[in-house]
Amino acid sequence: MDIRKLNIDETPPMDLLLLADPSHTLVEEYVQRGECFIAESDNQIIGIYVLLPTRPETVELINIAVVENQHGKGIGKQLVVNAVQTAKSKGYKTIEVGTGNSSIGQLALYQKCDFRITGVDIDFFIRHYPEEIFENGIQCRDMIRLSQDL
Ligand code: COA
Repeated sequence: MDIRKLNIDETPPMDLLLLADPSHTLVEEYVQRGECFIAESDNQIIGIYVLLPTRPETVELINIAVVENQHGKGIGKQLVVNAVQTAKSKGYKTIEVGTGNSSIGQLALYQKCDFRITGVDIDFFIRHYPEEIFENGIQCRDMIRLSQDL
């Protein structure tokens, strides 16, 4: 598997991006403002993440996703590790990520990759998404914010 930056003339794989965020509008906006990185195997795109500069020396990891039939094989972890390395090599001092209170696997993944929980944006998903979101039998209401010093 290779991980590389998506070229400017390549179309971002929207189906994959929408796995991580159901809002078409938000995804399109993030992709325009950030840098997209893709994981490829046998010329197929199997994973993606976006790095979005937010504040001075800070970048946010957003829209990380792996194609559904490849989940649980360690690709997500490799993408997070790659995102951290890429952010560091670009001179950022902090990398942040946010995920839903119901995203148990994602919370495990980020903490296994050395992110620490720094805060909770209460009712973020209620305020920004028109539909109720449920995962693991839990309503997704709050955004858990995590961060790592680089
Ligand atoms: N409890 C404990 N650990 C868990 C867990 C749980 N419930 N669920 C996942 N994990 C761990 C795995 O065990 C693994 O750690 P390990 O290597 O130490 O065993 C790690 O989390 C991630 O596993 P990995 O196989 O690398 O993840 P993946 O390739 O399936 O990708 C996602 C993870 C999140 C990218 C993938 O599930 C996905 O695309 N989801 C849809 C999009 C999405 O939700 N994106 C995130 C938005 S915040």
